[in-house]
Amino acid sequence: MTVREIKKMGHPVLRRPADAIEDPTAPEIKALVEDMVDSMREAGGIGIAAPQIGVSKRVVMFHVPDDDAPGNDPETRRAVVENPLTVLINPTIDVLDETEVDGWEGCLSVPGLTGIVPRYKKIRYTGVTPDGEKIDRVASDFHARVVQHECDHVDGILYPYRMTSNASLMFTSEIEHLEAPPTEEELA
Ligand code: NI
Repeated sequence: MTVREIKKMGHPVLRRPADAIEDPTAPEIKALVEDMVDSMREAGGIGIAAPQIGVSKRVVMFHVPDDDAPGNDPETRRAVVENPLTVLINPTIDVLDETEVDGWEGCLSVPGLTGIVPRYKKIRYTGVTPDGEKIDRVASDFHARVVQHECDHVDGILYPYRMTSNASLMFTSEIEHLEAPPTEEELA
């Protein structure tokens, strides 16, 4: 197990498009995935991308949100860290519904901050697992948001670049002042 340092906004590895992976089942990719899992857990995240631990490769992972209880109410949505972890190598996204939905986001590479980001409501995403299994899913709402956030990382994009106004950008230590504060999952 290796917990690696999370690179923060400003580090060049977070700004460049990451490299595609030729052999998703290679042992080095399995080792990278293990380090990503360890680093994500240590940092308390629900998703992470390889560039965040300094590796410019197209690998992302995230706990699949519980779509049965969507929305912003922490009472009705299970903690996503308890949900299955999906690992995607060479992920792709197709937008199925161009409606943009605003929602709070946080990022391990932008610690202590949160802001409102518009994301497409419904997407189809694909990728390959480290076992060589193909993944092809349709996702909407928070699930779609998480996938869009993580896949942005391998294109060198952080959530603040997607914000249409930075008026909502704030420190998570101040969210108690909001009428409808973001949930733990949204901040992770
Ligand atoms: Ni992030």
